[in-house]
Amino acid sequence: MHFVPTMGGLHHGHASLIAAASRPKAGAAETLVSVFVNPLQFGANEDFARYPRTLEADCELAELSGASAIWCPDEQQIYPGGMAESWRVQAPKSLQSRLCGSTRPGHFDGVVTVVCRLLALARPHQLFLGEKDWQQLTILRRMVVDLGLDVRVRSVPTVRDGDGLASSSRNRYLNAQERQQGVLFAQVLRDAKSAFLSSSMSPDPGQVRRHLEEGGLGVEYVDVVDPWLLQPSQPHEASINLLAAAVRCGSTRLIDHVFLMTRSPLVAIDGPAGAGKSTVTRAFAERLGLVYLDTGAMYRAVTWLVLEQGIDPADSAAVDAVLRDLEVELAPLQQGVQAVRVNGHEVTDAIRDPQVTASVSAVAAHACVRAALTAQQQRMGAAGGLVAEGRDIGTAVFPDAELKVFLTATPKERARRRALDLEERGHEVPALPDLEAQIVERDRLDSTREVAPLLQADDAVELISDGMSIDQVIDALEDLFRRRVAEEVWPTPA
Ligand code: PAF
Repeated sequence: MHFVPTMGGLHHGHASLIAAASRPKAGAAETLVSVFVNPLQFGANEDFARYPRTLEADCELAELSGASAIWCPDEQQIYPGGMAESWRVQAPKSLQSRLCGSTRPGHFDGVVTVVCRLLALARPHQLFLGEKDWQQLTILRRMVVDLGLDVRVRSVPTVRDGDGLASSSRNRYLNAQERQQGVLFAQVLRDAKSAFLSSSMSPDPGQVRRHLEEGGLGVEYVDVVDPWLLQPSQPHEASINLLAAAVRCGSTRLIDHVFLMTRSPLVAIDGPAGAGKSTVTRAFAERLGLVYLDTGAMYRAVTWLVLEQGIDPADSAAVDAVLRDLEVELAPLQQGVQAVRVNGHEVTDAIRDPQVTASVSAVAAHACVRAALTAQQQRMGAAGGLVAEGRDIGTAVFPDAELKVFLTATPKERARRRALDLEERGHEVPALPDLEAQIVERDRLDSTREVAPLLQADDAVELISDGMSIDQVIDALEDLFRRRVAEEVWPTPA
């Protein structure tokens, strides 16, 4: 079951959340929408009493958007011991020291407490949240990871009205003049983003604040933070940052944000041989609409060329000569297959030949080969929108990738998979302990070789795939990607 928690006052933003949760592609049997105005997340002087309560209209919109059921628990059901005696979950300080947490003490503790309780009662498989409340989304993602809750968090981009104002239940408080100011709020943030894109200079929060104040808005905060750590960061070419602000429009509090990034996202997936990298990277690329950069295929293509020209793969000078005018082309994936051409030759199948397999390590070990292919890969990745898989992608090729994963599995598990693979292809299967020993030795050689050893980047996330299905690994990669890369920055293809 898919779950969309709300506090009611449903608007277009909620409708798009419910529709996303109910899409057949989301794989849901049913979508449950809850409506509960949670007293615990309102401060003493906030708008709990006047918060919109529009249940009849909410039911209509939820149903129209695809909800299977709407659930309106009462306070007793959510906080059975009474509010004063209720259990509390506390979000870590670092996640709430900036942005809304800095001006609404206790707010996020109230949010995590109620969502924990709602999840315990509803037991959904997937939890759908809006990106508009990015800090809330991130804190809830962190809660699910850190507490090991068995639910996937999915996000949906901010929905805006025709005038650019982000949809919010609180917009209905605005009079015509305040609405204009709300529109200006969104505009000032958009302008700051455009200025960043043309200059690559980090926006000055003080200047953004002044522009907002000049428009008659009371500014609560303007901040630039890392979208996952929610701590200050310096926007530079290679990373995504969040410029977020909260303002008062009359007595109404509005929040909004923009993401700052000068190129599309890059993902680096490294790991030892036999960990299933290419299968999952291919599927991940297709799911997210990223270009798949199969660096292994590029090394194979060079090896094919070396063998084709009758050159000894160990002869560094001769191999170097082959690299002159080298052009390896990778076509976009089509039904999981990527056509490969080298210097105009179609080599998609030829590079899988056992002879190529036997020589690729020797060819790839030449520093000149690494340098030539790394430079070509970096050129291919300059605009982003790409996932690359290999041994040193996160350390040497794309050290500034938004997501770096070290995908691995224990030697025992890799030996088991290798045996299955050999059996399926009708080959003789060596004893498992022998296969395992070969894998351990290959890891040792790969990680100790002088040129481009297999390395886990300091900031890579280690994903150990023992006991996981391929789909579970791809889901895990998608969840890691979405920690920093919002749907509004890089939408999942329909
Ligand atoms: O975003 C909201 O509407 C609320 O904070 C939530 C997640 C429903 C918790 O009360």
